[in-house]
This record gives sequence, C-alpha cells and structure tokens, in this order.
Amino acid sequence: MSESTVQRLFSFIEKSPTAFHAVDTMEQELRAAGYRQLLESDVWKLEKGGKYFVERGGSALIAFRIPQTEGNGFQIMASHCDSPVFKIKENPEMEAEGHYVRLNVEKYGGMLCAPWFDRPLSVAGRLVIRTENGIETRLCDAGRDLLMLPSLAIHMNRQANDGTKYQMQKEFLPLYGDERAKGRFLEQMADCAGVNIENILSYDLYVYSRMPGTVWGADREYMSVGRLDDLQCVFASLEAFLDSGTGKSIPVHCVFDNEEVGSSTAQGAASTFLLDTLTRICDSFGLGMTEYRRMLASSFMVSADNAHAVHPNYPEKACPTNRPYMNHGIVLKYSANQKYTTDAVSAALFRKICEMAHVPVQTFVNHSDVPGGSTLGNISGTQVALHTVDIGLPQLAMHSPYETAGVEDTDMLIRAARFFFESSVKEIGSGQYCILHADFAAD
Ligand code: CO
Repeated sequence: MSESTVQRLFSFIEKSPTAFHAVDTMEQELRAAGYRQLLESDVWKLEKGGKYFVERGGSALIAFRIPQTEGNGFQIMASHCDSPVFKIKENPEMEAEGHYVRLNVEKYGGMLCAPWFDRPLSVAGRLVIRTENGIETRLCDAGRDLLMLPSLAIHMNRQANDGTKYQMQKEFLPLYGDERAKGRFLEQMADCAGVNIENILSYDLYVYSRMPGTVWGADREYMSVGRLDDLQCVFASLEAFLDSGTGKSIPVHCVFDNEEVGSSTAQGAASTFLLDTLTRICDSFGLGMTEYRRMLASSFMVSADNAHAVHPNYPEKACPTNRPYMNHGIVLKYSANQKYTTDAVSAALFRKICEMAHVPVQTFVNHSDVPGGSTLGNISGTQVALHTVDIGLPQLAMHSPYETAGVEDTDMLIRAARFFFESSVKEIGSGQYCILHADFAAD
C-alpha cells in the first residue's frame, strides 16, 4: 500500500519540475474531480456544496469546498511548491574555448551545491509570449537530459575532498552543448512549448534534476527523489483534500510559492493570498468581518513542511531528546522563538487529531547550537492569525537535488490530513476546544 503511494508521489513530482508545473498538476487533478477555477479578477458567486480553486502568479494555489450546512470555520493545510534550484539568467548562453556553450544561472534558495554535479539536468518553467492584443503564459519543459555540471577531475584538484568553497559564477555554469548549440537555447525552449521564438517576450526558466525516484533499503523502507521538500507535503495535502468528506468547516488546501526565498512575494506566505481568499469566501455568503473573525477563532491551520530526521552519520547534530526517524510518523516541529508556530494548544489539538486518526507523532526541536531553518506558518500568521501547528515528514539531505525519506510516512500524513479536513475545531471556552468529526459524532 505504501509503495503504490510512493509511485503516485514520484509521478506527481515528475510532473512538477517547477512551482508553475506543480500548480498545473494540481489544477488538472482538481478539475478532474469537478473543482471550478475562480479568477481573482472575477466576481465570486459561491454556492453551498461548491468546489473551487484559485491561483495566484501561476505558482500558488488555494482549493476549498463549501459545506452544505452552515460552516463553522476553516481547516487549512498549507505547504509550499518551490524548492532550491538554479534559475536561468537573461542572455544565458556563454561560450567557452569556441567549443562549448554553457548556460549562465543564478541560485534560487539555499541548496546543497555539490550534489548538482555529474547528474542529468534539464530545463523547465514558463515562457510569456505576445498575442494579438496582449500577452500569454505557456509552460515549457525540455523533458529530456539536456544539461550537465561535470566535476573537475581529481587529478587537477587534489584538494577536491578537503572541503570546497564554490565560486558560483565560474563553477556553476551547466554545459549545454558544443559549438553547434550556439544561439539555439531559447529556440529549443520555444519548440518544446510549441511557440514561435519571435513571440517570446520573457521567461522564468529553471534547471532541474532528472534523477528518477527510487525505493531502496534492506526492506525497501526508504525512497529518494528530488523536491521532497515540500512536494511530499503538497502531494499528501492534495490527496487527503480530494479524498476527504466535508464536515462542518471549510477545508482549505493551500500551496504557496517562494518559501525558499523568504515568502515575501505576491504568491508567498507573507502575501494576502490566503487572507483575500478567506474573506472573499465570507463576502460571497454575505458574512462580514465580524463573522470572519468569529470563524477564524474556530479554525485551525497545519503548516506542513518537511522536517529533519536524525542523520545516522551525524547524530550529534540533532537535539538529544527529540529524535525523529523516517517511517515513524508525522513530526511536530517546535521552536521557542516561534520560527515554528507550534505551541502547547496547537500541538495538543494536532496530537488529538492524529490520535483520532490513528497516526503516530514524533517531535523535532533544533539542537540548541544549530540554528536550523524556517518555514511558512509563522509568516502566514501575520496575514491570517489563527491556531497553527508546524509539522513535516522526516527526511534526510534536505535541499539536495536528491532527498531521502521513509516509504511509510506519506500515507500517515494523508490519513491525518484527511481526518483534519473532515473535522472542525470549535472554541467552546477559554483554552477549551472540541474537535468535531462525523466518526466521533455525539448522539
Ligand atoms: Co520546505
């Protein structure tokens, strides 16, 4: 059962080489399940029982369902669909020796650089083309092994294994072709998008790793593939969202872009995208700001972004008493200075939900001498403030182009998320909440 989930996850990741493609992949699944797209520029006339999704910037998406009966609040699961990559610069071709054509790129996000060497790479993203009366966006994906970053041979750098500081502008110029490739890069991108190169006005193109996913280990207990952070959570959230029944609250599947660069963009967690969407849902049913605030008080948000498992070769990097392992369930993430939103109340609510859904939970806190990372929950909270918990699935090699996780954990998040989307968290007193779910209905 877990392995079929893994294969679906691999296929989701393969179809989603960039954030734009991830949104497109989700859009197709949502449409197939009868969800209707709303444009932010349209008037929204939502209906009870209706299923909708809205996109922003082509790389962030929010999907939701309206219950048949009067709603309680929102059950929001948020994740992010970007990952650290190399972005192709403007005027990308760079000749070397009159015999090579390389591509000029820059870093997007904080990646582990070394594992990008010596593996098949490709290019995907979007082209913006001119039309009769304006512009139009087209996705493109070369879809084949197209680039490589060959290492310098050990014979020419005997210090290669003694630790390296990279010169990005010199060493990270992927090789695209020989002298015959000159002047052809954009033309190839135009071809794979089926557009005329003369019509291209601009582009957002990224290098991605072509390494296919694999399941491995003594009992096939591990899997490795690119972009597990955070497409594993995006995938689990979407599967659970599509698969769940609707309870008394409005389930919201929310995927932001630009988490890896601080979220401060129009389609990032710091934007008004979630706020705008939730308030417009209220508007559409004639509910004012007071009603919106009342609903938020009986809402819950899960900020789902992958977590670090204890590394077998670096066990000293993990907190001595909080030690997440792969295949041992969902990780609750804590941080005293609120890099993670988890507090006693949100942790208790999430633990209770997982208990009701029969899903194991483990805990992550940074080693006190290791700064650790950040995520989207606390940032989103500056726009939409509600009870939020930070969670993730345990993984190794985060921000490598080839990351490792456990084959069992995706199913556990799907199970917990499905239960979460079907339930309501209702405030019934100060510090007192009840979790409503059809399976636990009072007579
Ligand atoms: Co992440």
